[in-house]
Amino acid sequence: MTRVRLSVNGKEYQLDVPAARRLLDCLRHDLGLTGTKEGCGTGACGACTVLVDGEMISSCLLPAVMADGREIVTIEGVAQDGELSALQRAFVEHGGFQCGICTPGQILAARALLDETPDPSPDEVTRWMAGNLCRCTGYYKIVEAVLAAAGEGKAADERA
Ligand code: FES
Ligand code: FES
Repeated sequence: MTRVRLSVNGKEYQLDVPAARRLLDCLRHDLGLTGTKEGCGTGACGACTVLVDGEMISSCLLPAVMADGREIVTIEGVAQDGELSALQRAFVEHGGFQCGICTPGQILAARALLDETPDPSPDEVTRWMAGNLCRCTGYYKIVEAVLAAAGEGKAADERA
């Protein structure tokens, strides 16, 4: 067992984990943060996406020991004070929120994009989100939602 210190959504945790335990399992099973989903388990679908020090990571591929001392954001940390973030609201309003399996990963991937590129083009959004698979519908509404959130952020910056 190895002791790991994780900061998850601003809260500090210390856990003793086997060396190969995946961050995904720590989040879901040890910390009860079941908003992060498992799809493929092999780094191909994006369902398990979280932010680690601001970078989007497939938590099914990352051993928890490698997240030691790092800042993790899961879907549970995206809303603030019980209020959906602008990005989450855009997913709801534009029909980008279609199921509970892929959406947490979609939201965190989109957040990583907007943190890095606040005003992306439709092509940039499409390319960035390509690693987050949806098995039931299309991607247009997801792209629309991300662009709408970007537009809202830009309008807020212009008002400031
Ligand atoms: Fe991690 Fe699919 S469950 S990428
Ligand atoms: Fe989530 Fe299709 S909307 S997999």
